[in-house]
Amino acid sequence: MTLVDYKPPDLVPLYDRLASSYDRLHRRWLRHAGGEAQAALEAAVRAFAAPDARLLDAGCGTGAFARRLVAEGFAPNRLTLLDPSEAMLQRCTDIPSDKVLGRLEAMPFEDHTFDVLTCAWALETSTDLTLAIAEMFRVLRPGGLLCLAFCADQPPRGVMDWIISRTLQLRGTGRFLSVRGVTALIEAQGSSRVVSVPLTGPVATVIAQRAQVEGYSVLPARP
Ligand SMILES: C[S@@+](CC[C@H](N)C(=O)[O-])C[C@H]1O[C@@H](n2cnc3c(N)ncnc32)[C@H](O)[C@@H]1O
Repeated sequence: MTLVDYKPPDLVPLYDRLASSYDRLHRRWLRHAGGEAQAALEAAVRAFAAPDARLLDAGCGTGAFARRLVAEGFAPNRLTLLDPSEAMLQRCTDIPSDKVLGRLEAMPFEDHTFDVLTCAWALETSTDLTLAIAEMFRVLRPGGLLCLAFCADQPPRGVMDWIISRTLQLRGTGRFLSVRGVTALIEAQGSSRVVSVPLTGPVATVIAQRAQVEGYSVLPARP
């Protein structure tokens, strides 16, 4: 079965229930497996996002990344947080940014609204990856940057990767996506550049720039 054929369950009720313990569980995931991918995503945002960029964090969860951006001086009024879980969004109330209830597959935004769209560990919860990626490119302005971090079906580095991946699968909080599959879905949107950051372990960071001017991109060409 391909990435596109598989129809995953709706995980919003599960994340509603997990919201109060999410930060503790997610810190463990970042410590053991996801930290490098998260750091790569955040580095890309810091390197390429202009100080006045309009940024959407899609599947924002409890808002940990948004909180870090605001603490570093990013203007909260340029930041929008999107999540379909009310319990998750309620944990973002301290962040003075727009908070919007909604899904990756049907984002309640006009076309070309955002300069940067980040989505960390939420793509794998999507009920329709093709639609989710299409929506991301619809709401990104031409030339805008898409930064994804997700659980990926890469070989585990060791027993700890295996344990933590297995725990995630058993808990049912997401799935492990094919990097090639995600890259192909992005390329189908006509994005001018897609870069997969070289990482080890069951994770991926993929950065893409929506085509603006033929042949121009802030991202490096693939070797
Ligand atoms: C693993 S958490 C990631 C949260 C946050 N981005 C982070 O890095 O901690 C996954 C998030 O995706 C949200 N989610 C679940 N289904 C979704 C969907 N269809 N569209 C957008 N977000 C979804 C969940 O409510 C949850 O907040």
